Amino acid sequence: MQDGLLEPKPELLASLYEETMLVNRLINDLQQLALAEAGQLHIEMGAVDVHHVIEQAVQALSADARKKEIHLQINISQDLPRVQADSERVGQVLRNLISNAIKYTPPKGAVFVSAYTNNQQVYIAVKDTGHGIPQEALPYIFERFYRVDSSRNRKTGGYGLGLAIAKQLVQLMGGTIYVESTDGHGSTFTFTLPVLQIEAPEKA
Ligand SMILES: Nc1ncnc2c1ncn2[C@@H]1O[C@H](COP(=O)(O)OP(=O)(O)OP(=O)(O)O)[C@@H](O)[C@H]1O
Ligand SMILES: [Mg+2]
Repeated sequence: MQDGLLEPKPELLASLYEETMLVNRLINDLQQLALAEAGQLHIEMGAVDVHHVIEQAVQALSADARKKEIHLQINISQDLPRVQADSERVGQVLRNLISNAIKYTPPKGAVFVSAYTNNQQVYIAVKDTGHGIPQEALPYIFERFYRVDSSRNRKTGGYGLGLAIAKQLVQLMGGTIYVESTDGHGSTFTFTLPVLQIEAPEKA
């Protein structure tokens, strides 16, 4: 080079790019958490077709699953009612859960996304065949910056904000989120959303 500096290696550029993307995501995530806690996150509630949102989220992550040869399967019960929610935010929660499931499941495993209804709620579950979560970690899993294995390569995990954001979003939409997991035997993350209540038309 004319200025005497060496041309940066492609690997260096790639790793700088990845670091930049990670910091960018950190800033967005922190901003979203702060807004949610201040009650200022914009939520647009309406009638949401969960089936459609699940298909879109699965589609968005199917390339990641394919790369790890992870079988990604949808299982939705017939006649699932629509829910009262914000479709963008439901998609965001789902992408968080599905990307975790793919990230924390070894190659050739499986991830199942299912939806069913019970008692005026729709339950959306993301189940994986990964390492699972140790019993003692379960109470902290939705806390910001909490990661079971903080020493792990950051690229495989990010900053530990995904589940904290998912919890805020689900609560803002009137639902709950919880996890069931046995160490070594996979995890199931489930969140609920209220079934859309159709008001009876007023009689003349
Ligand atoms: N499906 C899963 N299987 C096993 N462990 C999981 C699973 N989902 C989450 N975890 C554990 O919970 C921790 C917190 O998850 P969370 O999504 O909040 O953060 P992250 O994935 O580490 O980073 P980020 O989502 O900010 O990129 C993870 O670091 C991991 O230890
Ligand atoms: Mg995550």
